[in-house]
Amino acid sequence: MNTKQLMSKFTEIFGEIGKPDVFFAPGRINLIGEHIDYNGGRVLPCALDFGTTALARKRKDSIIKLASMNYPLQVTLDLNRITFENKDAWGNYPKGVIDQFLRRGFTLGGFEALYYGTIPTGAGLSSSASIELVTAMILKSFFDCDISIIDMIKLCQDAENQFVGVNCGIMDQFAIGMGKKNMAIYLDCDSLNYEYVPIPLKGIKLVIGNTNKKRTLADSKYNERRRECERALAALQNRLDIKSLCNLTPGQWEENKDIILDPVIRKRAEHVIYENARVKEAVEKLSQGDIMTFGKLLNQSHESLRDLYEVTGFELDSMVEEAWKQEGVLGSRMTGAGFGGCTISLVKEEAIEEFINRVGENYKKKTGLQGDFYIAGIGDGVRKIRLEG
Ligand code: GLA
Repeated sequence: MNTKQLMSKFTEIFGEIGKPDVFFAPGRINLIGEHIDYNGGRVLPCALDFGTTALARKRKDSIIKLASMNYPLQVTLDLNRITFENKDAWGNYPKGVIDQFLRRGFTLGGFEALYYGTIPTGAGLSSSASIELVTAMILKSFFDCDISIIDMIKLCQDAENQFVGVNCGIMDQFAIGMGKKNMAIYLDCDSLNYEYVPIPLKGIKLVIGNTNKKRTLADSKYNERRRECERALAALQNRLDIKSLCNLTPGQWEENKDIILDPVIRKRAEHVIYENARVKEAVEKLSQGDIMTFGKLLNQSHESLRDLYEVTGFELDSMVEEAWKQEGVLGSRMTGAGFGGCTISLVKEEAIEEFINRVGENYKKKTGLQGDFYIAGIGDGVRKIRLEG
């Protein structure tokens, strides 16, 4: 659907009183560094070249009207009364962002917005963070809020933590806010220092595989993993002066892991500490142009998420295992929170067609589900779109 079609849909829903502005926020994938953003670790995500477009127009009163091309549900609310309501479903993401702007003392007014997302929902490509960031951009632009992009990123994370109730880390919002074309973001989630890292993919493409296994229970399992990490940290802090699990090197971990008695908690921490070390190595390999080793690190990351962190599941494992078997594949792993959702694979260009056919076929045989595959383009972060004419 192009902007012109969206414009006429907007007019159909909200009436013809003035032209809306257009905003865009991408989805994201994470190349490596999974489930460590909330453990003070380093991650390597990038923004995608598809995401959420929002058309929005200011109103003269305090009413906010939200509509979506993806869901029939429309949400109307008054700025003076914003509360989480289950029945508002997707509308709770923009509502959470509006709530956070108000809590930070910004003066807002009414507006109406139409959202159109091309990120498959529940696929672990951060469609929700994309809705959050695009909403934050609308508010900043319409109500002249003096807020930096980094503060908008933190605000959107707070919206998700406090309003929606998912205790996510900063990675998704950061990637969507700060994405840059053809670059990955090497982000230290503790200090928020970051650096753009080019991805030297000559003759190789990043292929996203959607297992189409919905991430049911993902939110509660996600919060459970966070609590397990907190328990691991608390145990280690009895002996060590550390602020987060990722303060430990693998060597220090090996010397001290005996202090964690619960084998499950120990496995979780082991994933976190080795995954953090893998990210560092992955960035070194990328800068040396060593894509082969980079691909192997992706594989190791998946194994660790499967065996130690236990967030993969039958569908993700099946798709990744099928990918590993194919010619021309340098690496493959789950991306995002897991429990369903998407995989990413590094595939030689000449092998892509065969890859998609074979992996799709075998995945279907094993799981009964039809997978979807896309070649990932790496794009820029959230922005207002300038329209011609
Ligand atoms: C979700 C969260 C992120 C991050 C990943 C796992 O996408 O929103 O903060 O924790 O899972 O790496």
